[in-house]
Amino acid sequence: MSLKKEISRRRTFAIISHPDAGKTTLTEKLLLFGGAIQVAGAVKSNKIKKHATSDFMEIEKQRGISVATSVMCFEYRDILINLLDTPGHKDFAEDTYRTLTAVDSVILIVDSVNGVEEQTRKLTEVCRMRDTPVIVFVNKMDRDGKFPFELLDEIEKELNLQLHPMTWPINMGREFKGVYNLHNKSLNLFAANQKVTEDNSVPIPSLDDTMLDEKVGERDANQLREDAELLEGVYGELDKEAYLKGEVSPLYFGSAVNNFGVKELLDTFIDIAPEPLGRPTNKRFIEPTEDKFSGFIFKIHANLDPRHRDRIAFLRVVSGEFKRNTYYKHTRLEKDVRFSNPYAFMAREKEVVDESYPGDVIGLYDTGSFKIGDTLTEGEDLQFTGIPTFSPEIFKELVNKDPMKTKQLEKGIRQLTDEGVAQLFTQHGGNTKIIGCVGELQFEVIQYRLLQEYGASCEFKPLSFYKACWITGDKKKVEDFVRFKQANIMQDKDDNLVYLAQSAWFLNTEKQNNPDIEFHTTSEFKTAMA
Ligand code: G4P
Repeated sequence: MSLKKEISRRRTFAIISHPDAGKTTLTEKLLLFGGAIQVAGAVKSNKIKKHATSDFMEIEKQRGISVATSVMCFEYRDILINLLDTPGHKDFAEDTYRTLTAVDSVILIVDSVNGVEEQTRKLTEVCRMRDTPVIVFVNKMDRDGKFPFELLDEIEKELNLQLHPMTWPINMGREFKGVYNLHNKSLNLFAANQKVTEDNSVPIPSLDDTMLDEKVGERDANQLREDAELLEGVYGELDKEAYLKGEVSPLYFGSAVNNFGVKELLDTFIDIAPEPLGRPTNKRFIEPTEDKFSGFIFKIHANLDPRHRDRIAFLRVVSGEFKRNTYYKHTRLEKDVRFSNPYAFMAREKEVVDESYPGDVIGLYDTGSFKIGDTLTEGEDLQFTGIPTFSPEIFKELVNKDPMKTKQLEKGIRQLTDEGVAQLFTQHGGNTKIIGCVGELQFEVIQYRLLQEYGASCEFKPLSFYKACWITGDKKKVEDFVRFKQANIMQDKDDNLVYLAQSAWFLNTEKQNNPDIEFHTTSEFKTAMA
């Protein structure tokens, strides 16, 4: 098959939602459609528990599990679908942001009862930043939730998305009768626990047809006629180009647990979701159809077995064909590397693959040579951009509890921060090490793993910093600033200068007092400048 054909039969996406909205359930139903699993409940046991706080075994289990479910690959209507998992726990939000750099579109779930929730907001913001096409699925229509027009309004306003309803519900909760497909003018009658093969949709030639009254009753039929007229007037036909540009989001209503509305969602997804797209680099834009292979690492996962320190680096293929046992250039280290056992994640099994194509995600065994954002090419010297590190929100000083194990601690913390678990800052001109994370849970993970995997014991001293900002600008001005603010100046792992602000007020004041210095809250500027 030609490279173009391989590309056109692939779709790579992620499901995003606030915990409990139904991501695990929807994932499972999608896998059922793809025949990747046979029974319901198979994914459930893999669920990343959202309530885990300090149960280390739980953390360990999650780490292991999320390797297996990091990528789920299945086929539907001859299309190869790569579904990338995103952790549900908010403390792993950064992992999710990075995963979003490796997909071409997303399905966003909104719980009809709770509406737009905090994590939905943050994740959608990241999608908006990157103009990622979004399809919205309003879940749990079998429960008494918010009214559909109210939800529409809330999603549009709070998430800054322009919606395009593709289906429209007939009631909700116990009265939920199904959805009317505004696009292909058919009625899908609700049945609890619908089977994959079951199809309850009936074409309705016209909404004026009395068949509609027969099916849903006169009152609901009239309400639907009214709603549909209103929607028709406001929305018209879906503009596919606008969807692909991330400007319009098709919207579906359904109930994942009942497998209701899932097929419609999946069919539309197959029809309109973008094929694997190219990515920008510091040198030029790389098209997926280019003959030469290129790809980037967006996630690194530690091995479950603590006796082995090797890790799995997840690579998204951007262009060309990746071949097993072939030398590729690791552009940051400027050295050639090859992989004898690259993994693909077909169904729920890992299997060694001989070749992979744009849109695919493969797992590469790594003994510590990869960092998030690293690029592999067939020789060209470039680096993919757009895989930012965000400013952490919690900062703690790393205190070595066992001076005999200083080396192990240094090595451990370097490797763990390469994985993207946390960020490491070292005091400018000193030795104090500060760890910055998005959530508290990561500190526990780090402490536990340093001990288990590196034999190093440490503790953390809380620090009250608000944000880490990378600073750039006029050389002399930066030097002066660094001298005056020495106590707040750190270096990141690549020796970039970072200012740690105590509060928003301090940060604003410094920005005002130092107009020649730029304060960046993401590390993106680094690669952009490289
Ligand atoms: P998450 O991965 O986004 O965190 O959510 P998950 O799929 O685990 O769903 C959260 C809860 O919502 C689950 O119930 C699930 O069964 C339920 N759910 C999912 N889709 C629907 C739906 O369409 N309608 C209704 N009524 N509920 C839905 P749970 O009690 O937490 O788990 P379980 O005991 O059902 O396994």
